[in-house]
Amino acid sequence: MRTAGMAATAMAASVTLTAGALALADVAGAPGVGDPYFPASGNGGYNALHYDVVLKYTPKTQTVAATVTMTARAGHPLRTFNLDFRGPRVTSVTVDGIRAAHTRDAGELVITPAVPLARGEEFTTVVSYTGTPTSIQHGTLGTYGWIKTREGAIVLAEPDGASTWLPVNDHPSDKATYDFTITVPKHLKALANGEPLAPSLEGNWATFRWRQPVAMASYLASVAIGKWEMTHGKVGDITVITAVDPKFKKSLTQVHRRTMRALRWGRTTFGPYPFRTSGAIVDDPRLDYALETQDRPIYGGFVPSEDFVVHELAHQWFGNSVTVRRWKDIWLNEGFATYAEWMYREHRSKKDSAAKTFRSYYRQPAKAPIFQTPPGAPGREQMFGFPVYVRGAMTLHVLRQRVGDAKFRTILKTWAAERQGGHGTTEQFVALSERVSGKKLDKLFQVWLYKKGKPKRGSW
Ligand code: TRP
Ligand code: ZN
Repeated sequence: MRTAGMAATAMAASVTLTAGALALADVAGAPGVGDPYFPASGNGGYNALHYDVVLKYTPKTQTVAATVTMTARAGHPLRTFNLDFRGPRVTSVTVDGIRAAHTRDAGELVITPAVPLARGEEFTTVVSYTGTPTSIQHGTLGTYGWIKTREGAIVLAEPDGASTWLPVNDHPSDKATYDFTITVPKHLKALANGEPLAPSLEGNWATFRWRQPVAMASYLASVAIGKWEMTHGKVGDITVITAVDPKFKKSLTQVHRRTMRALRWGRTTFGPYPFRTSGAIVDDPRLDYALETQDRPIYGGFVPSEDFVVHELAHQWFGNSVTVRRWKDIWLNEGFATYAEWMYREHRSKKDSAAKTFRSYYRQPAKAPIFQTPPGAPGREQMFGFPVYVRGAMTLHVLRQRVGDAKFRTILKTWAAERQGGHGTTEQFVALSERVSGKKLDKLFQVWLYKKGKPKRGSW
């Protein structure tokens, strides 16, 4: 029931709010951004702008001592706000230089600044912590987050593993720029996202600096600490840095060349590369998967095939530059990267056309795993399941068949160009496809992305 009295009280409250935001800043930032797949991921009430990560790693004890500074803007008045953090012991928190009260609650670090934050205010939070980060072990999503290796550690954090090592607004809807200053014993090297700055040496310690000047989703932020064998080169003005664990030393040149070749192809196929640096990292632990860490993908324990390299580099356009706003849309990453593999194979050999690859999957019986989950709404457990990758790619192929090669390429390039550095949703991709092609495509996407079971020929 709603009464006139209630409305009057609400109105009075909002009047006071505008009159004295600070006095009424009794608002707690929400502990999540409301993603149904990961309700605790991200936080309400502010937008992260930049993270400055200063981290020292001691392999002997496997401990980190870190200080992470987040610059952010408050979206509304805040008495308390959260960071996502599952890392080790927090030793201090300040907000705008003043010590702030903090408590931990499962994966949340709840911060109460000494002075509440006003709407629109830019503020700086500094969190220091020390101890040993741990990875997340998940039945269907695998092992991810901070992962210990023989010599050091690597981070592969998709989808919600950034909080294993960083106090962060851990959701792809809130991208930010990053600076990394990583100190390791001088017999090791530390890699991270973006471009390298000059390293320095002090006693037995070496400090490596990396800068990611393009806004990045937290799941793509990474460090890789190890004994790297490295090489570098250029594709146009893109610096390509490739690093492999000494165990893969013999394959260094091959991985580097595959990366350069895939990059050249990607630039002509998808439009300008969205970042300034690229490359590859092949680490030692046999994870048998890769992550498209911006700008240099990490391959876990294997020399990547051309297909694999193309997949991870395609993510730089589709996923890293144009990022999902909610995890349900993950086919915009995985379906696109998988279809890039099919396109690349076709580019290498006309006999290996994408149409042929499509047919080989479409031939599978209705009970085949690829048809069991609709890729446009896979559910949290099937986010990285076969249907998201393969049926997602099949969706792009039927789109291509419907609109023709030229329009299809225009759609991919326009998607990457118009949303460069930002976000995209499935609805926005459908709208773009209709705008570029001038065709009504709702049925095609409805059947391929959302309908359970194998799409029947003629039904789209
Ligand atoms: N995005 C990765 C790929 O297809 C797959 C992936 C999902 C992953 N979660 C991960 C890889 C966690 C490493 C760690 O390329
Ligand atoms: Zn992928």
